[in-house]
Amino acid sequence: MTSSAAAVGDSHETGMRLSKKPIPPHERLIFALDVSSVDEARKLVEKLGDSVNFYKLGLELFMADGYLEMLRWLNDRGKKTLVDLKFFDVPNTIKSAIRQLSSHRPTFATVHGNEEMLRAACEAKNGVKILAVTVLTSFDNADLKDLGYPREVDVKKLVLSRARRALDVGCDGVISSGREAEELRDRLGDNFLIVVPGIRPFENIEIEEDDQKRIVNVEEAFLRGADYIVVGRPIRTAVDPRKAARDIQDRISDLFES
Ligand code: C5P
Repeated sequence: MTSSAAAVGDSHETGMRLSKKPIPPHERLIFALDVSSVDEARKLVEKLGDSVNFYKLGLELFMADGYLEMLRWLNDRGKKTLVDLKFFDVPNTIKSAIRQLSSHRPTFATVHGNEEMLRAACEAKNGVKILAVTVLTSFDNADLKDLGYPREVDVKKLVLSRARRALDVGCDGVISSGREAEELRDRLGDNFLIVVPGIRPFENIEIEEDDQKRIVNVEEAFLRGADYIVVGRPIRTAVDPRKAARDIQDRISDLFES
């Protein structure tokens, strides 16, 4: 185990929250396929080969031609997929959108709304696991204030209360930063998925204009209770993306297979 892993929690707690769900370790890394065309996306997937088995398709790719075609292409190659379009609309529209999406068989889809929106998504999920976005990992308390939340609402409280309500209406899991994962597990149990973006695998990693604020590294995320991590730029902008993904997979194997 790396020194950063040992630094999480005290020795009594280390490993206590490590996910016991039967998820193959090599599927616990979700790569954010944030590129501007399907052509580029396919080339990157081919370059990554078996170092990545789970892909997140977000808004940038959605604005390129062929988003759903890309989803099918990945499914046909046995890859798992997360449709990260953070649906936010009136419940009826969310329900129809999720119903439509379910025919394309993604593994997960994200919804970024209130209880009614989340409930509507869950009613139409038809095999797709619904993940509720709690508070974006690019947000800190100042951003909440900027959105109009009262001073006494901080990120942790909001993540917890949004997660609790999401699970009550039938969501399969939540997206949160690794900094809230521990508390989510301790308060809400193990029976739901925690997916953690905002991963910065190394302390000295340089990402131009990095917008992520609530960051953790690979070991911190999992030792605090994440089931999956989402990694984008640290892999995509690496000199050798395949090696960067492989290195992260090795770190995940060290955690789950030791
Ligand atoms: O490049 P980076 O590793 O920061 O990528 C993180 C990905 O996770 C991005 O595609 C971003 O849209 C997504 N995401 C996030 N925070 C959330 C939900 C999704 O950063 N709460």
